[in-house]
Amino acid sequence: MPPTTRHLLGLEGTSREQLITVLDLAREFRAVSQRRIKKVPTLRGITVVLFFVEPSTRTRLSFEVAAKRLSADTLSFTASHSSLKKGETLLDTAQNLMAMRPDIIVIRHSAPGAPHLLSRHVEAAIVNAGDGAHEHPTQGLLDMFTMREHKGELDGLVVAVVGDILHSRVARSNIHGLTTMGARVRVAGPRTMLPPMLERLGVTCHDRIEPAIEGADVVMMLRIQKERMGSELFPSEREYSRVFGLDARKLELAKPDAIVMHPGPMNRGVEITPDVADSGRSVILEQVENGVAVRMAVLYLTSAHLIEGNGMETTPGAGVGP
Ligand code: CP
Repeated sequence: MPPTTRHLLGLEGTSREQLITVLDLAREFRAVSQRRIKKVPTLRGITVVLFFVEPSTRTRLSFEVAAKRLSADTLSFTASHSSLKKGETLLDTAQNLMAMRPDIIVIRHSAPGAPHLLSRHVEAAIVNAGDGAHEHPTQGLLDMFTMREHKGELDGLVVAVVGDILHSRVARSNIHGLTTMGARVRVAGPRTMLPPMLERLGVTCHDRIEPAIEGADVVMMLRIQKERMGSELFPSEREYSRVFGLDARKLELAKPDAIVMHPGPMNRGVEITPDVADSGRSVILEQVENGVAVRMAVLYLTSAHLIEGNGMETTPGAGVGP
């Protein structure tokens, strides 16, 4: 992403320096959310469209909070209440949105590549908020930010990602980002949920959870994405939970100070037991909190070319009240 392009389409191909820029900036922006007055004028005059064609709780709301904390104007677009329902195409919809002259479009879509398509046809900066099973770059960034806050450097960190890897854009963005940062990524799931040629991305694959989490610094659990499955890929939810679900006994295999992560939404009792999800090892709600800071950094960086020379505040968080 920065400084070579104004879009954030994915973490694949993003350099270590670019990732560090976002993560360092997010740390500065996190301080804004910890103040009494949680608002800075940094993106005053910038318009952000939240274009969500797939359901979302965390990503949509945290982009909205991030934009508002930076004083940007937001427009919320929800597919179910739009003219997409009347047959309007994605591109026609985007061209009509562009007629309202937004600066940034944050898009979530079920089709992999939808943000890339938009980036070729509209003037606004495009931020991918999740495209099908392809990438979810801001989730990958907030996950790396959370790991860095707990573990220091990512270089050499052992990260186990467990669950439905095949359909997980979160896994893909984390794999790209973490391997670039020098972490050692292990993935585990039923063989039917491990995409072929995964090893080419520099990860170690397991069809059992135990070897993946043994000695791990971070255990990231993923949800089974039934909405993306054409057919059943495992015998039963109960069986899946017994073999791949994280409980306190399995977690003992990880390092004693290992943290437990989940991008949400969680299926309690399926991929993670409630006692582990709510334990002191879990950083799941911290991930959500850090998502706001990371998205503030991404909105700032994707609009930096609009801010500079505009007479607007360019130093994140500077010139702010108490
Ligand atoms: N992690 C995540 O993308 O959650 P939402 O689907 O609620 O946005």
